[in-house]
Amino acid sequence: MILVTGATGTIGSHVVRLLTERGLPFRAMSRRERAGWVRADFDDPASLARAVADVDTVFLLTVPPAPTADHDIALVAAARAAGVRKIVKLSAIGSGERFDGKTVGAWHLAAEEAIEASGLVWTMLRPPSFASNFLWFRALIQAGQPIPNLAGDSRQAIVDPRDVAAFAVAAMTGHAHDGQRYDLTGPELLTFAEQAAILEGVLERPVRITDTHAPDRLPAGVSTGIGWARAGGAAYVTDHVPQVLGRPAGTFERWARDHREAFEAMP
Ligand SMILES: NC(=O)c1ccc[n+]([C@@H]2O[C@H](COP(=O)([O-])OP(=O)(O)OC[C@H]3O[C@@H](n4cnc5c(N)ncnc54)[C@H](OP(=O)(O)O)[C@@H]3O)[C@@H](O)[C@H]2O)c1
Repeated sequence: MILVTGATGTIGSHVVRLLTERGLPFRAMSRRERAGWVRADFDDPASLARAVADVDTVFLLTVPPAPTADHDIALVAAARAAGVRKIVKLSAIGSGERFDGKTVGAWHLAAEEAIEASGLVWTMLRPPSFASNFLWFRALIQAGQPIPNLAGDSRQAIVDPRDVAAFAVAAMTGHAHDGQRYDLTGPELLTFAEQAAILEGVLERPVRITDTHAPDRLPAGVSTGIGWARAGGAAYVTDHVPQVLGRPAGTFERWARDHREAFEAMP
């Protein structure tokens, strides 16, 4: 039995879809009541104990309100108590790098370290920015307003969330990826301006950008990662997705074409 956390979110919903398509036994977790799902919250240990009961492998995705590893650590504790064998964690590219005197992705790194120290089998998935982040700005795009570019002129191999989810399923359903960390990138390095130009071509409407620095209100842990990427830290492509999935990684243009309608829908 696989437990899918973050199952209502961007990556988790694709993990749920892929496991369903393959007829694999899984339990999806949400804080909201849903038929056939387990209702659980990383802040509620009793609910986590119910979520991991009889589970062999966990897809662990956390989005804590503050950048700490508390949610990951709570899941690890519940998993160990329940006899879970393996955790596949969604982390982020660059976690543990140093930038501007600080650690990039410190909370993801702390979570990875807690998982490693747990004695459980693990795989860490470390993608760069998801193509789907552009959906955050669909109201601005619809209104013809510029969208904020935090990346400056830096390039990133923006990744299709469907590739991240498919890789997670591969890691959960075989042993080949146990004990491995993967930087899961898309196939091409693009600036934010190049991404916006591709989206503009697909949507056939203007997608303007405005250069912005990370707002002061962002937690330090988040702004360090943005600064690291803006300085070019994430400007590399890996071949893990094609090697493991046996097909090319999805391009940003392909993702945009497949989600064209979502940009037309009301936000
Ligand atoms: N966006 C990027 O470009 C990017 C790049 C690299 C890495 N990442 C990493 O990817 C992760 C985000 O993935 P995503 O975009 O798929 O997430 P998402 O779409 O924001 O979904 C968040 C999920 O977390 C669940 N959740 C939130 N708080 C919870 C709690 N207290 N207890 C239980 N479940 C909770 C939500 O479930 P319910 O609301 O149903 O309970 C939801 O399914 C983060 O760890 C981020 O650092 C993101």
